[in-house]
Amino acid sequence: MKKPVNVSAGSAGNASSGSNVARSVDGRSKVNKAKTGLSFKALKLSKVKELLAAKREKDVLQRTSHVASTSTQSRSAPAIVARCVGNRGTSTSASSVGNSPVEGGLSALQQKMQQKLKGARFRWINEALYTTTGDKAFEMVQNDPSIFEEYHSGFSAQVEKWPVNPVDIFIKCLRGKPRLVVADLGCGEARLAATVGKQHTVHSFDLVAHNELITPCNIAKVPLSSGTVDVAIFCLALMGTDFIAFIREANRILRVGGELKIAEVVSRVSNVDAFVKALEEQGFKLAHTDTSNKMFIMLDFVKAKQSPARASSKPGLLKPCIYKRR
Ligand SMILES: C[S@@+](CC[C@H](N)C(=O)[O-])C[C@H]1O[C@@H](n2cnc3c(N)ncnc32)[C@H](O)[C@@H]1O
Repeated sequence: MKKPVNVSAGSAGNASSGSNVARSVDGRSKVNKAKTGLSFKALKLSKVKELLAAKREKDVLQRTSHVASTSTQSRSAPAIVARCVGNRGTSTSASSVGNSPVEGGLSALQQKMQQKLKGARFRWINEALYTTTGDKAFEMVQNDPSIFEEYHSGFSAQVEKWPVNPVDIFIKCLRGKPRLVVADLGCGEARLAATVGKQHTVHSFDLVAHNELITPCNIAKVPLSSGTVDVAIFCLALMGTDFIAFIREANRILRVGGELKIAEVVSRVSNVDAFVKALEEQGFKLAHTDTSNKMFIMLDFVKAKQSPARASSKPGLLKPCIYKRR
């Protein structure tokens, strides 16, 4: 069995210890022989062995850093890479990196590391979106659209584990209705429009135009005229710290009597009554509450009147949904 290679700056640095040997093969070999007790031939052999070992370590390092760089394309979260690689140990073995079955050019260990980096990156983006305003989130994602792709690959993996995806409930509900104008605010990959877009007119908004169905914007300011929408939907999309501005925008675009449909992660809404009260203050009337699902709560409102001219701030009404650090 091959000896594990410690892929750390320290061990990589040890390769330079060959400099002692380099000195020993020049004109001062006799002095070194006296010191080390090794013959010239033996010294030469040991130098070759050291050089080969150093090259093996360099190769391992190069392959490992390739995994890190391909899975963290953005420059905005270097700390995550450092934390993930640093905390989980950078020690790996030559056999596990070099000799295990390779899939898509990556060994099993490299694939595992890549998954960990993806997970860490998802949690970082998720936290950033929940702890900043819509404007700042828009700027962040516009500056680096890969954030959206990385976020959604992590988000989809999470939701796949849920017994029901709330989008499917909205789709089912809309399927049974006559033609409507729908605004899907924070639409993600726009599954709603892709599914019921022929039956209804669906306007899909998100931070990035992931596909041609989506208009990129901050959902606090959508490019729709006032009073033109029958149904406004926030499916797990009240992420910004200024989410009341999103609610007010939904109120602006909805006609009086239009429906506001919200699905939110259960753990975010610590006080349902306070949340409902805050929406009533913005001109909505509660029509239906569904708490039958363990993962998310669904609330239906009707627009009763325009939002008041001034918004009241509601700190702590929705908790940020932050995944546990592993
Ligand atoms: C948890 S995902 C849900 C996506 C989709 N509604 C679904 O259920 O599949 C929340 C979405 O809201 C978007 N989002 C969050 N804040 C936003 C903002 N201020 N403006 C536009 N989109 C926003 C995110 O980019 C993300 O795609």
